[in-house]
Amino acid sequence: MRGSLKNVLVDKLEPEELSLLYKSYDVIGDIAVIRVLEPLNPRSGIIAEAIMQTHKRVKTVLRQASPILGDLRLRKLEWIRGERKTETFHKEFGCVFKVDLEKCYFSPRLSHERMRIAKLVKPNEVIVNMFAGVGCYSIVIAKHSEAKKIFSIDINPVAVQCIQENIEINKVRERVFPVEGDAKKIVEEKLRNVANRVLMPLPEKAYEYLDSAMLALKPTGGWISYYEFEHARKDENPVEKTKRKVFEKLQNFNVNFEIPFGRVVRTTGPNWYQVVIDIEIFPK
Ligand SMILES: C[S@@+](CC[C@H](N)C(=O)[O-])C[C@H]1O[C@@H](n2cnc3c(N)ncnc32)[C@H](O)[C@@H]1O
Repeated sequence: MRGSLKNVLVDKLEPEELSLLYKSYDVIGDIAVIRVLEPLNPRSGIIAEAIMQTHKRVKTVLRQASPILGDLRLRKLEWIRGERKTETFHKEFGCVFKVDLEKCYFSPRLSHERMRIAKLVKPNEVIVNMFAGVGCYSIVIAKHSEAKKIFSIDINPVAVQCIQENIEINKVRERVFPVEGDAKKIVEEKLRNVANRVLMPLPEKAYEYLDSAMLALKPTGGWISYYEFEHARKDENPVEKTKRKVFEKLQNFNVNFEIPFGRVVRTTGPNWYQVVIDIEIFPK
């Protein structure tokens, strides 16, 4: 959930300070994560207190102290106010996710995308989630579809520990299966030709790992949901750019395919977009 920081702080900061505020912040469970520009750092406490007064359920405010970095997609977090913790329980569409914000990736901003995918899933599908994080796509799918099995791979042992706990909390033990390791290796060794649907929610690696997604699909074909960060000028369409790139790569495989759906999931910076495309693969 996000709120407008500016509205909350209009009486507490100078107009020039207000102009430096980021427009929004994330609330994950009972923790708010704020971003603050360097000149406003000394005002972080005031900002945090205003958030805690407005959102009674917020018990902790953390400041994001680095961009999201590395393969594990982690960021440095600095405690500002409230309980000193980084672990919380976040609710989304009737599911509960335990997440340690310092040790695992989690974004509440992808909730609608997770539900969009869950609605596409047909009864008895086998799904391979190649970059599962704390298991949010997998658990939303398990709760809101009749998928048979959802293999949930992540290279981060702490994320896999969270998936395990989230499986128990959400009572989806019979259908969600956590697997720790590199998605490429896991697919090659254990999950070849098993899936009706493959999810690739790691834009930084999706292109490189597309071969593994193809290997995970059943020989009868299926769907791949492919995520990418795309740069696009005003006169360019980021979804079309992603489609073109993937189209070229898929020409190298002995399959037929269509890309009937694509959309911008969110804007990530000036002229940068997170894009998803759904690819349907058919045998030749
Ligand atoms: C952007 S997060 C997506 C998490 C989750 N799908 C979500 O929506 O919250 C990407 C995840 O991929 C994991 N990861 C990075 N490289 C990986 C690899 N080679 N194999 C498997 N998982 C990987 C990271 O640890 C991280 O949890």
